[in-house]
Amino acid sequence: MLAREVISTGPLVLRPPADSDVEAITRACEDPVTARFLPLLPSPYRPADARAYVERARAKWEGGGAVFAITQDGQYAGSVGVRPPDRWGVTEIGYLVAPWERGKGVATAAVRAVTDWLFDQGVRRVELQAEVENVASLRVAYKAGFREEGRRREARRLRDGRSADVVTFGRLPGEAVPPPEPYLPFFEGGQLSDGVVRLTPIAPGDAGDFHRMMADPVVAAYAVGPAASLADDERRCRYTGYWWVSGQRIELAVRDAASGAFAGHLQLAQVLPALGQAMVGYSLVAEFRGRGFMTRAVRLLVDWAFANTALHRIVAGTDPGNVASHRVLERSGFTREGVHRELFPKAGGGRADDLGWARLRPS
Ligand SMILES: CC(C)(COP(=O)(O)OP(=O)(O)OC[C@H]1O[C@@H](n2cnc3c(N)ncnc32)[C@H](O)[C@@H]1OP(=O)(O)O)[C@@H](O)C(=O)NCCC(=O)NCCS
Repeated sequence: MLAREVISTGPLVLRPPADSDVEAITRACEDPVTARFLPLLPSPYRPADARAYVERARAKWEGGGAVFAITQDGQYAGSVGVRPPDRWGVTEIGYLVAPWERGKGVATAAVRAVTDWLFDQGVRRVELQAEVENVASLRVAYKAGFREEGRRREARRLRDGRSADVVTFGRLPGEAVPPPEPYLPFFEGGQLSDGVVRLTPIAPGDAGDFHRMMADPVVAAYAVGPAASLADDERRCRYTGYWWVSGQRIELAVRDAASGAFAGHLQLAQVLPALGQAMVGYSLVAEFRGRGFMTRAVRLLVDWAFANTALHRIVAGTDPGNVASHRVLERSGFTREGVHRELFPKAGGGRADDLGWARLRPS
């Protein structure tokens, strides 16, 4: 049984929810972002739903779980819920922050405080789950010291009938909380541009353009592995935020800055923090080729990476005969390093050599 206690952390006080919170809980749960990422909440959400939630909270405490209202200066700022620990002392935490209090570290502070309090109560392991598209919640998990443990594909059913993948995290007592700075920060302002090309995180709305481009024989000739379906490409685009916030890779749409049209794809993948190395890969839609678009895009991304991350080497691999790609790399400051013999399996059988390139962090 968890002790029915009040937790203080910095300016926040976490206490059981009360009838005086009903109006603020209603406003927080009417919010479209809350509704999007907590698909089990009633929608539309009414004061009666909030009253029922406060009532159920009492029963949850009695049933061995915990429900906190996060408050600041006596005002409701969000909620944290904890499942009753199971027979092995394992529990799960869930949370929401009122839209008017988001982006100020409230969730991170509250999750950390409740998790530490749970460990003090003898809990052995705290779990947390966040949907792959819920970048704010994923960021909270990493900042609160949770380690990613896996993904549950199509584990959640959304209001529109679609299934969503969920990332699972766990935290154990005594584990060091890593520094809060992400290995791959997001672009300031959400994009990079030199006035001619614009780089934005590739999104589900780009999946059709991406899929068509990948089917172009010139692009397909250099692709590795079997062609993906449109559904696979859409799923891939839903992972952009998760891959980025978890430091695994950056997936971008290259756009014509003037029209916003999808011109191609650029990625920073195979990120190896221990080596300080990552790899660029790219493809351009036919009508945008021959205009220096990809050279601009690669330069923008690599300059940004050296200015904003700890990366030391950015590498690329090309088919030895792909002269257009060689020009892109040469003009964006890459140097040839050598040949990896018979690296790439070819669609029709046999294997192709890979010409290796690198650009080093400027000293
Ligand atoms: C998830 C949620 C609780 C976060 O609350 P919060 O108090 O704003 O969280 P914090 O301020 O502690 O941290 C949020 C982080 O996400 C970042 N973030 C928020 N939205 C983002 C976005 N769309 N893309 C990238 N980063 C984003 C913030 O910048 C911040 O990171 P930073 O410290 O590196 O700048 C809040 O957005 C919410 O209530 N969402 C709806 C309910 C929900 O999703 N609950 C969790 C279900 S698993």
